Amino acid sequence: MANDTLTVIDNRTGKQYTIPIEAGAIRANDLRQIRTSPEDGGLVSYDPGSTNTAPCKSKVTEIDGEKGILRYRGYAIEELAAKSSYLETAYLIVKGELPDTKHFEMWQHNISIHTLVHENIKVFMDGFRYDAHPMGILLGTIGALSTFYPDAKDIHDLESRRLQTRRLIGKLPTLAAFAYRRTRGLPYVYPDNELSYTGNFLSMLFKMTELRYQPNPVLEHALDVLFILHADHELNCSTNAVRSVASSAVDPFSALAAGIAALYGPLHGGANEAVIRMLEEIGSVDRIPEYIKKFKSGDGRLMGFGHRVYKNYDPRAKIVKQLAYDVFEVTGKNQLIDIALGLERIALEDDYFVSRRLYPNVDFYTGIIYQAMGLPLTMFPVLFAIARTAGWMAHWAELVRDPEQKIVRPRQIYIGEGPRPYLPIAQRPAPSMREDQVSEKI
Ligand code: CMC
Repeated sequence: MANDTLTVIDNRTGKQYTIPIEAGAIRANDLRQIRTSPEDGGLVSYDPGSTNTAPCKSKVTEIDGEKGILRYRGYAIEELAAKSSYLETAYLIVKGELPDTKHFEMWQHNISIHTLVHENIKVFMDGFRYDAHPMGILLGTIGALSTFYPDAKDIHDLESRRLQTRRLIGKLPTLAAFAYRRTRGLPYVYPDNELSYTGNFLSMLFKMTELRYQPNPVLEHALDVLFILHADHELNCSTNAVRSVASSAVDPFSALAAGIAALYGPLHGGANEAVIRMLEEIGSVDRIPEYIKKFKSGDGRLMGFGHRVYKNYDPRAKIVKQLAYDVFEVTGKNQLIDIALGLERIALEDDYFVSRRLYPNVDFYTGIIYQAMGLPLTMFPVLFAIARTAGWMAHWAELVRDPEQKIVRPRQIYIGEGPRPYLPIAQRPAPSMREDQVSEKI
């Protein structure tokens, strides 16, 4: 018998099955042959939250959560953060290789010519309430963009895929900045393509009456590094959402809207916003023990801590922590850093966090930097979305080209009622009994 197989004995029937193992995985469909009778639908694996299920093979990002390693296309995150730029890293993620000078210049040009958005987008933006969350605005406008580019439906055409990728990487900062200006009641600032990707974004956020906005080079660089750190992270919730929705062969603008919706949640991209709210609520270093106790008892979570994959220090969090001090040189210290450092020190010595292998994740320190740069909390997940667009588009293209991929359609384990007759309304049980049953179910 070949070594790379798995032998399973079904104790219900005594039957033995040999299942091939490929790249450390068995095919879930190979479980289907394991059945107790011909009517049995076959064995399924039950995996809420897909904690141990690989729906694809990917060449984009490698994470070793035990060792705290993150690599894009084989390049260590630490090296990219120190030596690359966001646009170069985006090229690497999307195309698989680092560009030479000529290709990088073409890429920069091709992205920058797509930074403008259709004027009608401003009308959409104006339709949102004055206090709308910018992530909600971004989500809505990206979905709306699919109606501007019907050619994006041509997902099997390579040139069309390239064009949509440039459009989305080019337009995300503009939409994000417009969403911010909308919530502030400020006039929209058009892109300045003479500036870098992040410099232009800062200009669209913060330009007032000056003829030309000059971004502070330290802040421009810090934002660029933060964008590199957020550019991809393999099958996180939002990338999985993009892939899942894209598997229906919908256009990438619609698939990305799904990714942005997933990223909006406080357990994912909304965590950096939640960290600041938590630090502000704690308020002072002397209240940390009280809050640690609260989190340990299950009353809330220590936001910015813990990760599904990293069971070691998130390598991105280390870089962000260092970066914070460069930013403070320009902006002045964000006092919340002392509470964050205190929380981290106590948590890393506490048996609750140690035994569960909960370490700071990327979101623990990013919000402190964004806040020091003058960005409101609601913009934090929006910044995450800009950076993650490169990763989403790389995964989308990988999915579309992968002949093994099918429309996503997981199985369920039905635990509801068996067959029962429909009763006319007058014959149904009294409401008091039904209320209990109903409230238990929904
Ligand atoms: N604070 C307190 N306890 C925690 C935390 C936390 N932040 N995270 C996990 N735990 C506990 C959890 O209660 C559980 O304990 P027990 O075994 O006693 O029930 C155990 O640790 C395992 O937690 P889990 O919820 O099963 O772990 P998960 O892999 O499903 O969740 C997570 C991962 C990131 C959602 C979770 O750690 C969390 O909610 N963290 C806070 C939110 C956060 O920082 N999210 C950003 C994630 S990184 C960036 C991104 O991907 O967007």
